[in-house]
Amino acid sequence: MNVAEAIAARRSVRGFLDKAVDPALLRDIVVRAARAASGGNLQPWHVDLVSGDSLAELKQMMAAKLMAGETEAPGYDIYPRELVAPYRDRRFAVGEAMYGHVGIPREDKAARRMWFARNFQFFGAPAALFCTVDRRMGPPQWSDLGMYLQNVMLLAMEAGLATCPQECWAIYPETIEAFLATPADRMLFCGMAIGYEDPNEPANRLRTERAPEGEWLSVRA
Ligand SMILES: Cc1cc2nc3c(=O)[nH]c(=O)nc-3n(C[C@H](O)[C@H](O)[C@H](O)COP(=O)(O)O)c2cc1C
Repeated sequence: MNVAEAIAARRSVRGFLDKAVDPALLRDIVVRAARAASGGNLQPWHVDLVSGDSLAELKQMMAAKLMAGETEAPGYDIYPRELVAPYRDRRFAVGEAMYGHVGIPREDKAARRMWFARNFQFFGAPAALFCTVDRRMGPPQWSDLGMYLQNVMLLAMEAGLATCPQECWAIYPETIEAFLATPADRMLFCGMAIGYEDPNEPANRLRTERAPEGEWLSVRA
């Protein structure tokens, strides 16, 4: 698989097989991903790998929290408070496509909420990572995190693994930062589910669209 093929084939996977991932492989992936570029070579990412008993404990804790309806103040605004066109439309379209695949209509808010809650079980993935960052870092360093995480996702693909980046975890920052014993000067950016794709999960049939380049590309020559 070359780089172009890997970029074209990567997608977010939301259903995993109950098949463990070799911890040495995971470690190798997150270490090699750190060849990502970063402004000033700050390398502002911090990564926590979670699997095994530790992950089982976290999943259990999250299930109890969701069941009890516990909420927290989000660590940051996941989207701008007013999401305008065309971004709002794109978000709406991917949501409709996703729930279409799993057969949950718009009116069935309770079922959609239940499905969303699968995020907090990492969609059944046997491994996960959390990415945290120094609170003093700004937008340029947060963009470096994205480059790092894209490397993780592509390297995972090369190893036959699937991933789903998850900023939903930012709605439970206290819980996750306490669980990870994250020092006070760092904050949670996102989680990522990692494992072997379940080919029978309907959600994994989703293929997302991209806006035609005419919507975002300007060329001057
Ligand atoms: C930083 C980041 C956070 C994301 N958070 C979530 C999430 O919490 N839950 C989820 O199901 N998908 C999440 N996604 C996946 C996006 O929905 C997905 O990347 C987008 O719809 C494009 O689909 P694709 O990844 O399959 O190409 C996230 C993606 C990124 C890059």
